[in-house]
Amino acid sequence: MGTAEVAGQRTDVETWWRDAVVYQLYIRSFADGNGDGIGDIAGIRARLGHLRDLGVDAVWINPWYPSPMADGGYDVADYRAVEPMFGTGEEAAALVDEAHALGLRVILDIVPNHSSDQHAWFREALAAAPGSPERSRYHFRPGRGPGGDEPPNDWRSVFGGPAWSRVTDDGRPGEWYLHLFDAAQPDFNWSDPRVQEEFESILRFWFDRGVDGFRIDVAHGLVKSDGLPDLGLDEQTMLGPVERSDHPHWDRDGVHDIFRAWRRVADSYAQPRVFVGEAWVDSPERLARYLRSDELHTAFNFDFLRAPWEAPALRQAIDHSLDTVAAVGAAATWVLSNHDVVRHVSRLGRPATNGAGHSLTDLAPAPAFDRELGRRRARAAALLMFALPGGAYVYQGDELGLWEVEDLPDEVLQDPTWTRSGHTDRGRDGCRVPLPWSGTTPPFGFSPAGAHAAPWLPQPADFAAVTVEAQVDDPESMLSLYRAALALRHEHPALGDGPFTWLPSEPGVLAFARGAGFACVVNLSDGPAQLPAGARVLLGSGPDAGDGMVPPDAAVWLAV
Ligand code: NOJ
Ligand code: CA
Repeated sequence: MGTAEVAGQRTDVETWWRDAVVYQLYIRSFADGNGDGIGDIAGIRARLGHLRDLGVDAVWINPWYPSPMADGGYDVADYRAVEPMFGTGEEAAALVDEAHALGLRVILDIVPNHSSDQHAWFREALAAAPGSPERSRYHFRPGRGPGGDEPPNDWRSVFGGPAWSRVTDDGRPGEWYLHLFDAAQPDFNWSDPRVQEEFESILRFWFDRGVDGFRIDVAHGLVKSDGLPDLGLDEQTMLGPVERSDHPHWDRDGVHDIFRAWRRVADSYAQPRVFVGEAWVDSPERLARYLRSDELHTAFNFDFLRAPWEAPALRQAIDHSLDTVAAVGAAATWVLSNHDVVRHVSRLGRPATNGAGHSLTDLAPAPAFDRELGRRRARAAALLMFALPGGAYVYQGDELGLWEVEDLPDEVLQDPTWTRSGHTDRGRDGCRVPLPWSGTTPPFGFSPAGAHAAPWLPQPADFAAVTVEAQVDDPESMLSLYRAALALRHEHPALGDGPFTWLPSEPGVLAFARGAGFACVVNLSDGPAQLPAGARVLLGSGPDAGDGMVPPDAAVWLAV
């Protein structure tokens, strides 16, 4: 394993991903360069300095491919081009070069479970006959019941409603096609070798253009059980058995062959390319299977994200995660928020968190959101996360302490979850509101002066207090905390990859050492917690309580 200087930063060339801090760029909402109210590549290029100053190691950019945007770009019409609304291939290439010049690696998002219904292959499938090779790249089936009027099986779309839609053949109701997400996102049939070849070629296309890796969308969904058997859903709740070892479309063993082939593609490059899998599976043990040495380098650790703000639950999530990655020699990753879940300031800002809150509807309506509490806990959670061994993900706006915008008007909602749930689940738009950069009124610098359109989702007036401009010179701000934590993480030899040991602590307190000389204490109890004797505070998430104590809902980094 060699080391090298990249733009003044010491990085392990071969294994940088084992402890990288990756910034998630939700492109539609990061920065708008051309004034149409939608974030774009020009906006990212103009704001790369923010990421350099923040001190992250890499960016992951959500899908930027041509797309009708039925699911925020996760409905890809062409995997080898850039959506014109976001920019051009030349701009994309320039962004990769400019990021590299700043020492930032670039990870793209690949969506292999499904395409857009506007993808050339799906259009060809619709134009072709049942049973044709064009149809076999997706899952087309005749319906059940008289006239084939019933879907081929009982699978449900993740966004609500049946996972099947019917097409017309020769002007009459015809076959059905499978879509585990929106009807505009038909699932590929991964048992067709053309699908496998196509995706390996797409990986090479972007790797050849200098891209450092891919985040793999729905990595656990690609392979479906032969014959597409029923799930056996409960008719009342429409829910399946919570855990099952042989689920017909999630986490099937066959996905591992696909990722072994992908790993061979990644490893064929002199500078290895990396993968991070999005795999929602039942247990850390199942997740570890994706991380075997000839498969994916890393995967998101959603157990940490889902853990409630309670010491025993967090401790268990941390232990379980570390044990299981250690068993396969992989590095852990940690994440608090992303574009699919309620922002953690809003999850943690409920006096009692129940660990749910994946969706807004999971959040208890009462007691109401307490922004100060959420902010305080989010600061402590950030120091906890950045002190753990492995890599970490920052979702854009985490560094500003953004909260979920829970009161977006119905008519602006764009997440397909809202319509597919019959307007019962408001979906994920509340964590996707465009970032506030500067100024005191919308668009808060998100779009340039004189923009001809408002941001694609309205920003609340109180974003004025949390713009980058408002925080950058305030030593007490969330942004200053993130910058200080990431700077220290780079400098301190104990942080990032490396040993981890729990230290004795009072109930409700997490305390651990990272190698010799560094400790982190997180107080999740109601009263002040005692610091280890002789410890010196390097960084604290809250005001100094004095007397060697840490206040409730605060964390400290210590030299010991
Ligand atoms: C996971 C992505 O993160 C989410 O935004 C998307 O809706 C689904 N996969 C379907 O692609
Ligand atoms: Ca734009």
